[in-house]
Amino acid sequence: MTAQETLAKIASEVSTCTNCDLHKTRTLSVPGEGPANAEIMLIGEGPGANEDMQGRPFIGAAGKFLVELLAQAGLQRTDVWICNVVKCRPPANRDPMPEELAACNLFLERQIERINPKIIITLGRFSMYKFMPGVKITQVHGQMRRINNRFVIAMFHPAAALHQAALKPAILADFAKLPQLLDTARKELNTNKTQPAMPEKQAQPETSHDAETSAEQMEPPKQMKLF
Ligand code: URA
Repeated sequence: MTAQETLAKIASEVSTCTNCDLHKTRTLSVPGEGPANAEIMLIGEGPGANEDMQGRPFIGAAGKFLVELLAQAGLQRTDVWICNVVKCRPPANRDPMPEELAACNLFLERQIERINPKIIITLGRFSMYKFMPGVKITQVHGQMRRINNRFVIAMFHPAAALHQAALKPAILADFAKLPQLLDTARKELNTNKTQPAMPEKQAQPETSHDAETSAEQMEPPKQMKLF
């Protein structure tokens, strides 16, 4: 099966998934979209109202801003794979619950495995905690960490930056660094092919390509009714 076929199969499974209660209130599931061979994968939180209606990720105000952020890095939306940690809209855009995150995790794992991106950008805390449990986004955003056979960069959620002006310069600067970070990732992954593969969810940060950070006490994710 080609990568595209596998991703289409996952999307089809997502569309009929009843593994958590979110299926009861969804209009359409939002599996994710982008090129199957994307070097960069962006993972947000969960679909909002617009996404739920159209079955596509990041198409509302946060999505419009995301397109601007990608342009900062000389990228277009169609260059990257975009998805969320939960594939169906949490009612009233509430935070995803642990059982909803768990129910969707295998879909996300399969997407990551098949796309095999060099860089995963987590947007907001829920996707960041999947890869860097316990860290504080204010201390790690924009830093690229090697986690097994790829790199992960935590970034603020575009919706948070839209609603908190103070975060905007940081997210703009983080995206502007992306071409340089992608270059580093390409070089390191091409020269170091012997890293043993481990399941993504057991990954621990190995190296940071920016300031040194240490894992902090986990900040409980705060409610973001932003999109
Ligand atoms: N916010 C997200 O996290 N994901 C979307 O798809 C839209 C808004």
